[in-house]
Amino acid sequence: MRIDVLTIFPEFFSVLDVSLLGKARQAELVQANVHDLRTWAAMKADGTPDIHRTVDDAPFGGGAGMVMKADVWGRALDDVLQPGGVLVIPSPAGVPFTQALAADLARADQIAFACGRYEGIDARVAEHYDAVGFRVLELSLGDYVLNGGEVAAFAMIEAITRLIPGFMGNAESIVEESHADGLLEYPSYTRPASWRGLDVPDVLLSGHHGKIESWRREQQLERTRIRRPDLFADPREGVAQ
Ligand code: ADE
Repeated sequence: MRIDVLTIFPEFFSVLDVSLLGKARQAELVQANVHDLRTWAAMKADGTPDIHRTVDDAPFGGGAGMVMKADVWGRALDDVLQPGGVLVIPSPAGVPFTQALAADLARADQIAFACGRYEGIDARVAEHYDAVGFRVLELSLGDYVLNGGEVAAFAMIEAITRLIPGFMGNAESIVEESHADGLLEYPSYTRPASWRGLDVPDVLLSGHHGKIESWRREQQLERTRIRRPDLFADPREGVAQ
């Protein structure tokens, strides 16, 4: 898989080398390229030089904040997006990023992450690349506002790359983890069996695999019902998109 990140803060992504992704990169499962958006801001929309390398401008219609310029993003994405690539635009106004989407995107040949700052990217950028045939996804990490798309892109890259076939050592732990089947994961324990007066549930020490499995299933259902009733109502809802 090829990952391209476009950002005005390329240094933020130096952490890609030290995260889990470092291993996938070494195993050549992932090739990650981080680009400074300002590389494409050396000229204005009318073709004259822009010594300030401006990437944003005031919103049409007024209002607070600045909007990132379509012409700069267009030049950058024309250079970076490969045929068949997926364009991901992290945005608090996007559809929720889920484990099912991560698994889907783990099969992509290329993903380009367009990290916006300020009030986001001129809406015509998503519209244009969709119109010319790219898969364009505006994705939200959750119902809160970050300063920009960088942290969200990084989280998505980690969630996606660990699902690339051959990346994780233990395929079973992916099948059993939270959200893999639309439910939260059951609680886990290790030695010692008794700690500060708290005992590991007897069933887990019983060696009875059938009972352990049904206990874990009950725990999944109970946790999900209490913590995430939205998932419990329909375990697939919000997962399959
Ligand atoms: N950019 C700012 N906030 C965001 C969020 N919650 N998800 C994705 N991108 C964002």
